Amino acid sequence: MSARPAIRRAGPADLDRIVEIERECFGTVDGAFSRRQLRRLLANPNAYWMLGADGLAVACWLTASNGRARWARLYSLAVHPKLRGQGWGGRLLRAGLAWMRARDLSVCRAEVNALNHPARRLYARFGFQEVGRLPGYYGPAVDGLRLVLHLSTEKSAAAGDTSAGKRSQRRGRGSSGRVRNP
Ligand SMILES: CC(C)(COP(=O)(O)OP(=O)(O)OC[C@H]1O[C@@H](n2cnc3c(N)ncnc32)[C@H](O)[C@@H]1OP(=O)(O)O)[C@@H](O)C(=O)NCCC(=O)NCCS
Repeated sequence: MSARPAIRRAGPADLDRIVEIERECFGTVDGAFSRRQLRRLLANPNAYWMLGADGLAVACWLTASNGRARWARLYSLAVHPKLRGQGWGGRLLRAGLAWMRARDLSVCRAEVNALNHPARRLYARFGFQEVGRLPGYYGPAVDGLRLVLHLSTEKSAAAGDTSAGKRSQRRGRGSSGRVRNP
């Protein structure tokens, strides 16, 4: 009997699961995607969805291009509150960056709520640079930060594999912040 993979690609059949994590992590106030938006995103051929932790951790990347350059945008990243601080966020990021490398995408862009310090720390560990401020991006007086990671400068410590450990702890229109398009 083969072990279930810790992280797997998600698809349209995972809609219910993902709606639930979105609500759990972002809530309505904090800008969770609606069921309709999620259904559309799950069917988007440019989107790459991943689920981990038996469906309690989710990430979504979207490829984008302007005709010449191609890059990926980290569109959503969420770990159920009861599993935070155990490395799932990092594992999903690593898996997404591996997916990018396999597609020759060397730049990852994202946005984060300036008040979302756990997410900012996680991205900094991977080498994301905060390259701009987005005033009011997450609501009145709640700024966003524009993030960029060039895979060539990805931090090797974060890129390496880590064992599961112990330690507990979006476009959010609230305090948590969120990686997401406007
Ligand atoms: C941001 C978020 C995705 C991080 O997920 P996570 O699974 O807790 O992330 P990790 O466990 O990989 O890392 C978080 C912390 O745990 C620590 N950690 C990770 N693995 C660990 C281990 N094996 N042992 C001990 N500590 C560990 C990390 O060092 C990190 O510490 P730090 O915050 O002091 O830097 C999660 O908090 C979340 O879903 N938040 C709500 C939604 C959200 O804000 N999403 C991001 C939108 S921008």
